[in-house]
Amino acid sequence: MKDQFLLTPDITFLNHGSFGACPKVVFENYRYWQLEFEKEPVYFIQKRLNDLLRHSRQMLGDFVGCEANDLFFTPNPSTAINTVMRSMKLEPGDEILSTNLEYGAMDRMWNFYCRKNGTRYVQQPIELPLTSKEHFLEQFWKGYSERTKVVFISHITSSTALILPVQEIVEKARSLGLITIVDGAHVPGHIDLNITALDCDYYTGAVHKWLLSPKGCSFLYARKEVQDGLDPLIVSWGYDSDFPGESRFIDYHEYNGTRDFSPYLTVPELFEFREANNWVEQTAASKALIREWYPKFCELLNTQPICPVTEEFLGQMCSIPVNTPDEFKLKDTLYDRFGIQIPVTKHGDKNWIRLSLQPYNTIDDIQTFYQALQQLKEEGELLIT
Ligand SMILES: Cc1ncc(COP(=O)(O)O)c(C=O)c1O
Repeated sequence: MKDQFLLTPDITFLNHGSFGACPKVVFENYRYWQLEFEKEPVYFIQKRLNDLLRHSRQMLGDFVGCEANDLFFTPNPSTAINTVMRSMKLEPGDEILSTNLEYGAMDRMWNFYCRKNGTRYVQQPIELPLTSKEHFLEQFWKGYSERTKVVFISHITSSTALILPVQEIVEKARSLGLITIVDGAHVPGHIDLNITALDCDYYTGAVHKWLLSPKGCSFLYARKEVQDGLDPLIVSWGYDSDFPGESRFIDYHEYNGTRDFSPYLTVPELFEFREANNWVEQTAASKALIREWYPKFCELLNTQPICPVTEEFLGQMCSIPVNTPDEFKLKDTLYDRFGIQIPVTKHGDKNWIRLSLQPYNTIDDIQTFYQALQQLKEEGELLIT
C-alpha cells in the first residue's frame, strides 16, 4: 500500500496519528480542485462552490451519522472548538469538566477562556492503567461539582491513544443539563462514529487524519438546538446573507473569506479510495496488529499496557509508557539513526511512544521499530528499563 501514498519510502513511518498521510489519488484530486479554482476563480466561487461543498458535506454527514446541514468544514479541530469556545457564555466560577489526558492545544484554549472569564478548567486526573470503562467513568465524575456547566472530552486521546467511553459520558452529562463538547480529532475513519446516536452538543473530527484527505480538512457538528447560539468565528458574507441558502447555520460558518476550499472537495474521492482498497478490512488488520504487538513492546520496555488490550480501548494506535531521561533525544535518535518517524511525547509527568499503524505499514516496519528499541535498551542510555 505504501506505493499508493506520498510518503517517502526511506522512512519507517509510524506516525499517522499526528497529521495523517494522504493517498496519491486523493492528493491529485486536491490539485485538480486547486486548478479548477484558479482557472476561473469568479465562476468557481459564485456558481460552483456551494454545490460542491454541499456534496462533500452530505457524504461526510452520511459517514459520521448526521445531517449534511448540521456540520460545517473547518481547516482543523482547533478552529472548530475555538468557534464553540468563543460563543460560550459562562459565569465566573463555573467549571468546564475535562481530563488530564486532553490535547495540549485544547488545554491552552480552555486556559485562555478561563483566564478571561474567571471560570475553571477542571482537568480531572485519570489514573492509568485503566482497568475497565467503569473505572474511567468513576474517576472522571469525581471532578463534577455543582458549578460544572460543560463537559469537554476527547473521544480518542492524543498522547495516550485511548478510546474513551464518550457515549456514557454524554448520556450522563446531558441528564445533568451540561453542555457536551467532544474532541473526536482521531475518530472519523478510525473507529465507528454515529454523532446523532451520541447526541452530544458539539463534535469535531479531523478528515485529514484517519479519513485520508489532504491537510486542512476537519469539521464541527452542532446539534440543531444549539446552532442558533453559535456565533461565526469569522463574520463574513454569510451573515445577513444577500443570497440565503437552505441553512442559516451553514451560511454563518462555512464561508469565511477568500481561501482554498480544495481539501474539503476531496471528500468524494477519498471515499472512493477507501472503497476501492477495502479500507475497512485493511484497517481491521492494522487494529489486530496493534493488539498483537502492544503487549510485546510493553514487555520489551518492562512496562504495562495502559488499558485492557481490546477493541473497546484501542484502535490503530497504542501508547507505550517509556522511561527515558530525554524524550526529544529519543525521538531524534529513532529518526536519525534508525529512520523511524514516531512521536515520543511528555504528557504530565510521563513519557509515551505512540505507535500508529495504517495499511501502508508492514510487519517489517514493526520489526524495525522493535529492533531499534531492543538496541537502545542494550545500549542503556536512552531507555531505562
Ligand atoms: C485529541 C486531539 N485533538 C485535536 C488535535 C488536532 O488539532 P489541530 O490540528 O487543530 O492542532 C489532535 C491532533 O493530534 C488530537 O490528538
